[in-house]
This record gives sequence, structure tokens and C-alpha cells, in this order.
Amino acid sequence: MSNLSLFKPFSLKSLNIKNRIVMAPMTRSFSPNGVPGDNVAAYYRRRAEGEVGLILSEGTVINRPASSADPNIPRFHGESALQGWQQVINGVHAAGGSMGPQIWHQGVMDNHHSGWLPLTPFEGPSGINRPDNTNGIAMSEKSIADTIKAFGDAAADAKSLGFDCVEIHGAHNYLIDQFFSENTNLRTDAYGGKTLAARTRFAVEVIKEVRRRVGDDFAIIIRLSQWKPYAYDSKMAATPAEMESWLQPMADAGVDIFHCSQRRFWEPEFEGSDLNFAGWAKKLTGKATITVGSVGLSGEFLAAFKGESSEPSSLEELIRRFDRGDFDLVAVGRPILADPNWVKKIKEGRTEELKGFSKEALMELL
Ligand SMILES: Cc1cc2nc3c(=O)[nH]c(=O)nc-3n(C[C@H](O)[C@H](O)[C@H](O)COP(=O)(O)O)c2cc1C
Repeated sequence: MSNLSLFKPFSLKSLNIKNRIVMAPMTRSFSPNGVPGDNVAAYYRRRAEGEVGLILSEGTVINRPASSADPNIPRFHGESALQGWQQVINGVHAAGGSMGPQIWHQGVMDNHHSGWLPLTPFEGPSGINRPDNTNGIAMSEKSIADTIKAFGDAAADAKSLGFDCVEIHGAHNYLIDQFFSENTNLRTDAYGGKTLAARTRFAVEVIKEVRRRVGDDFAIIIRLSQWKPYAYDSKMAATPAEMESWLQPMADAGVDIFHCSQRRFWEPEFEGSDLNFAGWAKKLTGKATITVGSVGLSGEFLAAFKGESSEPSSLEELIRRFDRGDFDLVAVGRPILADPNWVKKIKEGRTEELKGFSKEALMELL
């Protein structure tokens, strides 16, 4: 089967990319005191040289005192960190690539293994990050308003530094996702509620503010997941109708692209159809979508954190779904983390040179 369809260009507003392959956002914690240095810029530049269509940065935190649980996660605020990001995007553009930062508030976290803690307590909708696990405080209306503004500031900075788009991290049980979930959002005010649609209000306000700050022509992506790190099989939306009630308000608020995080892209979302999350998101909203999850690898990424290795695998099923029109873009994580030239090798059919993934790749910025 030919890979050619993955190498057609894609344009949407500010985004003009040479192929359909996206580097998935991957936290690396290689930015001392939150400042990305030359090594981080060189790491991303190598991916642009390796012909990744769109690079999404590792999650980078917004300007809230407790937005990060790890001092080496890069910040997306403050002069020194933004200067670092300026070097990153300059390098990516010089190599002919495109990039957007993934802007992030981690919400209520478990304490970092080093013992480091942010200056103020972790904050989230209700101070919990999974059932019965309190490790922070419930946000006041003022904290919510300030956080929404901080997302807007980060998006505006992304645009003024010259990035091609911005991605809002709304997945994986971090702040925005903690608002979506009935397990972590126990609020009884306007930011809580019995339905998923009601609990989407915080995300909608973040998206509206980001849109207001970047203007109509700057592409906005939001990353979402049905699963949670503490419950792989959970579904945020149990039916297509519930999924529509979740996604459509975000589309109306200004999202251009839904980035649908799965651990394995081939797993169907609902009974009676083989469509995956990205397939449903596109069908329900008409918006562009990104799929992700074990593309080109035999094992999924959370097992990789526990030390499981993965072997290269065929792209045939991915291309069948792509050619059917299920999604517009394909994000690839670990293969591109381990090999800056993964895209080039796929394009040129050099499959015997593909390496697979083992945990050692996480130890350095290859
Ligand atoms: C080291 C590592 C760090 C990650 N950090 C993030 C992150 O910052 N933001 C995010 O949305 N997902 C993060 N993820 C998830 C990836 O973006 C991706 O969805 C996942 O690895 C599945 O893709 P893959 O099977 O191609 O690796 C991370 C994954 C890995 C392996």
C-alpha cells in the first residue's frame, strides 16, 4: 500500500504544512527552571529537518503559580522562557517546518518525586485529581477568570513569536479535563453540572478567550481524550450524542482542529462502527481532526513508561482510514521522539531503518 496520501500538503488558516504527519506533544522536562535552551531548540529543529509536517511542542505551562508540578517543564511565560521559545520557532522555520506550542495547566497533580512544589497549592475544579484523592484546592471564580486570561496570554504570545498555530491541552486528566469529568468536577456553580455539556463551560471560555486574542485566522487545536491515566477504559462521552454535546460547543467557540488522543488509533469508539475518536469528532462537528496512538508501533505509550519496548509495525490500517477521510492529520509520538528522521524514512520507504521504541530514548534529547 502506498504512503503517498500522507504526503499531501494541508492548509487551514495560519497553518500550511507540507505533509499530514504531526509530532505529538511530548513532555521532556529538559528545561531547567522552565527555560528551553539551545538543546531544546536543536531537538525540535532536527524534527523539522527530518520533514515532520507540524511539530507540536511538549506541554508548556501558562502563567499561573501552580500550573506546573515539575520545575523542568518549560514555561510559556516570562521573558527568559519566551526568548527560548523564540529560538525554537526560528530554528524550526529556518529548516522549513511548522510548529505550535501545546499550552498547558496541569491542574491538581500528585507531588513531584523530587519533592519540588509550586509556590501555591495545586488548583482544580474541586481540589481532587481522581476519586477520593485530594491534593489541591477548588478554584475560586477569580482563579478561573485569571486562568482563562493566562491561556489567552500564552496563545497571544505564541502568535507574536511567530508560531503557526496553538494547541490547548484539554486531555489526560489535566486542568481542563478535570473540569470535563464528573469524577473531578464536583462543583455546583456554573462551571460544574450533571451533564458533560455543562462541565464543558470552562473549556469553552478558554477557547473563546484564545480566539479573541489570536484573531480569526490563527489555527486553534484542542487535544482531548476519552480515557484517563487512572482509568484507561473510561469514556468521557458514552454515546455519539453525548460526544456531540461535548465537542460542538467547543467548535462553536473557535476550535479549528480536534486532536483526539487514543492509546491505539485503530480502536473503535462506539459499538456498531469502526470509526475511532478522530473519525467521530470529524463526522459530528465537520472540523478537521488529528488521530494518534501507536502509529507505526506494536505497543502503546503508557506501557512504554513502564519499560515495555515496541517494534515497528505497518501503516496499512492507518492509511485505509486516512484514505476513507476519517481524519486529516496523523500524530506520531515515540517514533519521532526516538528518531528525528522517522518521517523521511517513511516517505522514502526505508522501513528496514525504522528502530522501534525503548525507554532509553526518554533519557536524552536525541
Ligand atoms: C515521553 C512522553 C511525553 C508525553 N507528553 C505529553 C504531553 O506533554 N502532552 C500530551 O498531550 N501528550 C503527551 N504524551 C502523549 C503523546 O502525545 C502521544 O499521544 C502518545 O505517546 C501516543 O502516541 P505514540 O503511540 O505515537 O507514542 C506523551 C507521551 C510520551 C511518550
